[in-house]
Amino acid sequence: MRIFILTCLPEMFDSFLKASILGKAIEANKIQIEVVPLRDFSDPPHYRLDDTPYGGGPGMVMKAEPILRAIASLKKHSPNARVIFPSPSGEVFNQKKATELKVANELIFLCGRYEGVDQRAIDLCVDAEVSIGDYVLMGGEVATMAIIEATTRLLPGVLGNKDSSITESFSETTHGRLLEAPQYTKPSELPSDIAHGSASESLRKVPTVLLSGDHSAINKWRNSEGLARTKARRPDLLK
Ligand code: ADE
Repeated sequence: MRIFILTCLPEMFDSFLKASILGKAIEANKIQIEVVPLRDFSDPPHYRLDDTPYGGGPGMVMKAEPILRAIASLKKHSPNARVIFPSPSGEVFNQKKATELKVANELIFLCGRYEGVDQRAIDLCVDAEVSIGDYVLMGGEVATMAIIEATTRLLPGVLGNKDSSITESFSETTHGRLLEAPQYTKPSELPSDIAHGSASESLRKVPTVLLSGDHSAINKWRNSEGLARTKARRPDLLK
């Protein structure tokens, strides 16, 4: 998969693209990601990317021309790339949307900043406007990172442990739409001096079923914990 990120703040992606699993996948050439500074497509002498809104109102609006030029330049070589615009006004991005995006060979993310983006740029070149939740971020960069992580981890060979993506929260394959059961690792009992306050023994110990080696009992426990969590935290998923 090839991804282009159009942004006024390219430096925000420096460590994101180097770290951990994504960094390794890029190094192994499983994913190619190019950060494209929108300023390169703005007009001299001031190289402005924003201007005041028509009709008045607070804040500034991102100008259409640099965006349209940048996308036209990318589309010369990648005519079939899908343009994604993260925005709080978009359709909600979820696991299903991630599975739809993962089949695209090429994606272009347009990161908005300021109070918004000139609607003409959106109407002329955006294929999908998506929101990562009902809150407003300062711009589209963090949302773009979230969508890239959710999508690229589904690509073959990106996660080392192939099974983990099918047992996690929101996996479509095994538990349908249940939240994931809690996870534990060593030691099987936390020493009392490290656990906060007067934590009872049961809070310091790993549930015994997980130490039993009985995989059918473990699966049963995980399903019932996942169901209990879903009922308590996300009853909407059970409808
Ligand atoms: N940009 C600002 N807020 C956003 C959100 N909630 N989702 C996607 N993009 C955004």
